[in-house]
Amino acid sequence: MKILLAVTGGIAAYKSLELTRLFIKGGHEVQVVMTAGAKEFIQPLSFQALSGKPVRDSLFDQNQEAGMGHIELARWPDMIVIAPCSAETLAKLRMGRADDLLTTLVLATDKPILLAPAMNRLMWSNAATQENVAVLTQRGFEVLAPASGEQACGEVGEGRMPEPQDIFHKTLENLEKHAKNNQAWLNLAAFWAGKSILITAGPTFEAIDPVRFIGNRSSGKMGFAIAQVAAELGAKVTLIAGPVHLPTPKSVMRLDVESAEQMFNAVQAHYQKQDVFISAAAVADFRVALPVQQKLKKQPDSDSMTLELVKNPDIVAWVASQENKPFVVGFAAETQNVLAYAQDKLVRKNLDMICANKVGQADNGQLLGFNQDSNALTLITKDRHLALPESAKSLQALALLEFLSEQLSFESV
Ligand code: C5P
Repeated sequence: MKILLAVTGGIAAYKSLELTRLFIKGGHEVQVVMTAGAKEFIQPLSFQALSGKPVRDSLFDQNQEAGMGHIELARWPDMIVIAPCSAETLAKLRMGRADDLLTTLVLATDKPILLAPAMNRLMWSNAATQENVAVLTQRGFEVLAPASGEQACGEVGEGRMPEPQDIFHKTLENLEKHAKNNQAWLNLAAFWAGKSILITAGPTFEAIDPVRFIGNRSSGKMGFAIAQVAAELGAKVTLIAGPVHLPTPKSVMRLDVESAEQMFNAVQAHYQKQDVFISAAAVADFRVALPVQQKLKKQPDSDSMTLELVKNPDIVAWVASQENKPFVVGFAAETQNVLAYAQDKLVRKNLDMICANKVGQADNGQLLGFNQDSNALTLITKDRHLALPESAKSLQALALLEFLSEQLSFESV
């Protein structure tokens, strides 16, 4: 998503560096706008380094305007976040002024706007500020109440800017709320209402003995994101989860399993009467042939140890080979040759669709795919390809469900 982050003058401006980092890490595009006051506290270069875009700070700079004029900039974002929002900016917004870039953008946009006011406690509780906030709220601005605590000025009270994490989550919540009101969401919800989806997610743990296991780095976040968005769209979702630390999305029926064999049993018990089966779990290919009942002891006279592994059932291939099977979607997490390997899997496992993504070490040293909040999937069927740009896993899930709805409508014609 595209976020215009406006920073106004206040000591809390430094916290917006972390907020920028969170947006970027979550796969969002960020354009920072700074007021003159903000630049008294932080250098624009810091925001440029984190967002990857030069900061916009002037209404009349010919170079800045030549790139993207202020009216275009007002149309560009999916959401505007003003953090910190000073008492002065609140007053100007309430009056509808247009005497700098930020106030002009706010007047010229119809996008949702989130304000995170931050100021001295007396400035915040002042009747003038409170009245400004009340009027802005009435006009549809979302105002995040400041937190209480120690202030930079040495006083204690209400007026601190909420933590970047909180502003980040509030922004995502708002983006979702607005996405849900638009026509595309409503159409998609009409398609998924009442459809049944079975999803596997997370890793499997294969026991060696009662305390040790063979596992993998899957966090389950992708499968859980699909489950959550599908449930929000009105689908009946059954989620079979390997060992992960994630809360169950609202209205989702969750079954916890540990090993591939347990996951297989759960899938066998539920795959019938489903419209779609999405196999997002990173299922272990092998398990220990004979897990022992007691904790294995080191053998003092031996420097090595051999574990015999046997093949696990291929769950997704099994579902794809059943008569009256649901529409079967697999995942292909690869460290190299992503598309070629994914296509090979699509054919070999007789899947209807596969979602390919690159995992492992990126060139910049970051871990791709696993345990990240963002992802970049390529959706592949036997005659279609769609490479999604990197974005938050919840947005990848939404795009996947949209692609899937087109595919299912197409195949049922
Ligand atoms: O062969 P590979 O493990 O890379 O295939 C990935 C796809 O197969 C994923 O959708 C995964 O959930 C599924 N799979 C499975 N059972 C296995 C191994 C993989 O369902 N034993």
